[in-house]
Amino acid sequence: MTLALITGASSGIGLELARIARADGHQTIVVANEPAIHTAAADLGAEVVEADLATPEGIAAVLTHLGGRDVDLLMLNAGTGMGHSFLDQDPAGIDHVVLTNVLGVLRLAHPIGRRMRARGEGHILITGSIAGFMPGTFQAIYNASKAFLNNFALALNEELKDTGVSVTCLMPGITDTAFFERAGLLDTALGQMKNKDDPEMVARAGYDAMLAGRAQMTPGLKNKAQAAMAEILPAGMVAKAHRQMAKPQDE
Ligand SMILES: NC(=O)c1ccc[n+]([C@@H]2O[C@H](COP(=O)([O-])OP(=O)(O)OC[C@H]3O[C@@H](n4cnc5c(N)ncnc54)[C@H](OP(=O)(O)O)[C@@H]3O)[C@@H](O)[C@H]2O)c1
Repeated sequence: MTLALITGASSGIGLELARIARADGHQTIVVANEPAIHTAAADLGAEVVEADLATPEGIAAVLTHLGGRDVDLLMLNAGTGMGHSFLDQDPAGIDHVVLTNVLGVLRLAHPIGRRMRARGEGHILITGSIAGFMPGTFQAIYNASKAFLNNFALALNEELKDTGVSVTCLMPGITDTAFFERAGLLDTALGQMKNKDDPEMVARAGYDAMLAGRAQMTPGLKNKAQAAMAEILPAGMVAKAHRQMAKPQDE
C-alpha cells in the first residue's frame, strides 16, 4: 500500500490534502502540533503524530513513527504566520515561524527525499505561497519564509529531474482557513478580505499537480495574475502595496 505523510493536517489546506489522500486509498500519516490532530486523524482513519516541527524533537518523532517505511507522497504543508511590524513582534514567535516554515520543511524533505531518490520514485508537495513573491510589509518574516520555500522547491525539483522524484510547489493565494486568526491578522485588510479561496479547491489543485509531477501550482486565475504582477512590478512598489493589505488598524 502507498503511504502519504501530510504535515499541518489538523485544519485548513492540510486537512483537505489528507482527506483527498485517504479518499485516494493511501495509508496516511497526519502531523500537527496541537492535540486537535488526534480528532482529525480519528475522522480520517489516519495514523497520527503530534509534534512541533519547529523542533528537532518534533522532526525525530515523525521519523521514529515512520520507522523506516518509504513515503510515496510527502506533503510538507505545516506553516504559520505572524502579522504586525517586525520590531514589535515577540522574538520567540519570530523564531517559531522561521523554524516551522523553513527548517521544519528541510529537516523532513532531506531524509525522506533521499530515500525517494534511492528508490527512484516519489512525489513531494511543498506549500509555499504567492506571498513569497511579495516583500511582506507587516508580515515580513512570513513572506520571507515563503520566498525561501518557493525558491527551494523549484530548485529541488530541477535537481531531481530524471530521478523519478518530483517536487511541486503549491502557491496558494488568500485562502479561507484559521491562518489569519492565528497570525494575528484579523485587524487587517488581508484578514478581513471577503471571498477567500476554498481550502478544498486549493488542496485539490495542489494534489493533482503533485501527482502530475508539475513544478508549481498557483490555484485560481486571480492568484496567478497577482503573482505575475508581483514579479513584474518593482519590489519597492509591491512592498508599499502590501502595507495596505497587512497594516494593523492600530499602526
Ligand atoms: N490561508 C492562506 O491564505 C494561505 C495562503 C498561502 C499559503 N498558505 C500556507 O498553507 C499552509 C497551511 O495553512 P492553512 O492556511 O491551512 O492554515 P491553518 O488552518 O492554520 O493550518 C496550519 C497547519 O499547520 C500546523 N502547524 C503550524 N505550526 C506547526 C508546527 N510548529 N508543528 C507542526 N504543525 C504545525 C497547524 O497545526 P497546529 O494547529 O497543531 O499548530 C495546522 O495543522 C501553511 O504553510 C500556510 O503558510 C496559506
